[in-house]
Amino acid sequence: MEKFAFIMHPLEAKPDISRKYPIAKYLPESLLELALKRMGPMPISHVTGVKSLTGTEAEGWFIGCPLSAHQMMTLPVDYVLGKIIDCAKAAEDAGAKIVGLGAFTSVVGDGGITIAKNVNIAVTSGNSFTIATGLQGSLRAAELMDISLSNARVAVVGAGGSIGRTCARILARQVPAISIIDLDEAALERVSAEITQETGAVVTTSTDVHTGIVEADIVCSATSAVKAIIQPADLKPGCVVCDVARPRDVSARVAKERDDVLIIDGGVVAVPGDVEFNFNFGFPPKTAYACMSETMMLALEGRYECFTLGKQISLEQVEEITRLSEKHGFSLAGFRSFERAVTAEQIERVKTNARRKLAVV
Ligand SMILES: NC(=O)c1ccc[n+]([C@@H]2O[C@H](COP(=O)([O-])OP(=O)(O)OC[C@H]3O[C@@H](n4cnc5c(N)ncnc54)[C@H](OP(=O)(O)O)[C@@H]3O)[C@@H](O)[C@H]2O)c1
Repeated sequence: MEKFAFIMHPLEAKPDISRKYPIAKYLPESLLELALKRMGPMPISHVTGVKSLTGTEAEGWFIGCPLSAHQMMTLPVDYVLGKIIDCAKAAEDAGAKIVGLGAFTSVVGDGGITIAKNVNIAVTSGNSFTIATGLQGSLRAAELMDISLSNARVAVVGAGGSIGRTCARILARQVPAISIIDLDEAALERVSAEITQETGAVVTTSTDVHTGIVEADIVCSATSAVKAIIQPADLKPGCVVCDVARPRDVSARVAKERDDVLIIDGGVVAVPGDVEFNFNFGFPPKTAYACMSETMMLALEGRYECFTLGKQISLEQVEEITRLSEKHGFSLAGFRSFERAVTAEQIERVKTNARRKLAVV
């Protein structure tokens, strides 16, 4: 039996804590964050039944790191890394041979390098498979929305970061022009130069989300913003947005106010076997985030190595993890948007609404 662990954390203190302790609904976020700070690693659940197409089986443990996304981004980096390292040590004590880093636990600091130096087991951020599935999802959704890649305008938000940069480099090979957006101007210039050198795509850069995406047909968003940054007025009728970020980059207002755009969650994966996570993280049974799935498939492969570490992810890593996903039977699950499954009828309605809106404009 192969063994893995995965570290997760509350994206926001109030909604996540009140799911388990309803009284938390009535307490201010700041008080709940203070309470989180006092806690140590939290054993969340024992994951059973992961079974590869090859027949290999794995079990694992979810371990909670008691800090919200906001705390991870505002508390001193060494303090936050210390808390994550304590969780990775708890994973090691539980018997895991590899630990995956959920959400902001790989955003803070150096993408897992410091964490890996402090434990005796392998560490992976899960970002290679997050990129692979984010791209697969974006392209499949674009096809269903009748968007042709040969003349599509594509935008990547957070393109200066770990996931965004590699998404942009891969997408740029398939489209004539790409818009890349990030707060970090120097990072944008570096990624722009890289894309120009590697592909024939025309690159435009922007630090303003609205300017960068308002004309895009396909948007892939993976920023480390702790609040939503894509609003209803930012989107072109008929576009697809693949939101890889957790917490989400796309505002919940978009779901309410724009019935002419298709928003999908990035990285929702069907896990092979009769898997029981024994913890509700908001997905249907037997489905997981891509970063969790990367950790599981490396365990199934017996590949106890730091597969995705640091902020620079190569195209080869994305290809290799895609190959492993096929070997072990991990595949993109159906589309989801704001905690709900997206149906074929819904996509047809979005297309009709977009055509109507474009006819009026
Ligand atoms: N769905 C999944 O399975 C999955 C798996 C792993 C990670 N994630 C999520 O993916 C996201 C990105 O992760 P990452 O590892 O790529 O992070 P990262 O390396 O820190 O990159 C994030 C980038 O976003 C930029 N950014 C932050 N706020 C922005 C804003 N308001 N507008 C434009 N750009 C902004 C950052 O710029 P600065 O550095 O200048 O701030 C940075 O360049 C996170 O939300 C993470 O939780 C999801």
